[in-house]
Amino acid sequence: KLPPVVTIDGPSGSGKGTIAKLLADRLGFILLDSGALYRAAALAALDKSVDLSDEEALTQVAKSLDVHFAVNGGQLRVVLEGREVTDDIRMERVSMAASSVAAIPGVRAALLQRQRDFRMAPGLVADGRDMGTTVFPDAPVKVFLTASAEERARRREAQLREKGVSVSLRDLLEDIRARDAQDMNRKASPLAPAEDAVELDSTGVDIEEVLRRVLALVQARI
Ligand code: C5P
Repeated sequence: KLPPVVTIDGPSGSGKGTIAKLLADRLGFILLDSGALYRAAALAALDKSVDLSDEEALTQVAKSLDVHFAVNGGQLRVVLEGREVTDDIRMERVSMAASSVAAIPGVRAALLQRQRDFRMAPGLVADGRDMGTTVFPDAPVKVFLTASAEERARRREAQLREKGVSVSLRDLLEDIRARDAQDMNRKASPLAPAEDAVELDSTGVDIEEVLRRVLALVQARI
């Protein structure tokens, strides 16, 4: 019998990364941040000056992607070709590039098995866009986490401000809307809830409360 999986899908800024990490800690499960894989592929492509419209070249980048995740002091570190890129992959230009790269079927196919390999005992929490629909369709618990675009832009602004980066809320909102549209309208694994996913709207709900609701689902189903 395969270890259980909890999938948490949703748009950027919905809080799924935070919830996934807290949940994995609480359950003692392994964590898969699938977005980090797409981000690492995008950064590798940018570093190699690969044309972002060259599907074949990008598929090759994904196939040969040398990326590792390491937990260091409770923090998930991302290592690309031996170099730590944990912060680099969060840059706005990498976010947009990741969204383009992720729309290419060859890239998604190249990263599919790599994501499934994270399913190990005692269980996995996987966050992304298509965890419940494509990567782990048999997961016993599927959550689709949303929040209004405005709230997501505000959260992102607060995060950046904490890091000393100041950006306009309007630019962030524009980026978020552009990325949502790109992620929802693509043909390959578009951002959408699985039929059997439980949808949670985190607008105006604090993280602790969202975590409580997700934990209740896990307790009922695993
Ligand atoms: O979740 P995160 O914002 O880090 O993901 C970055 C980008 O990677 C997303 O905008 C999306 O286009 C892509 N992605 C994806 N499928 C996933 C996770 C992320 O297409 N499972």
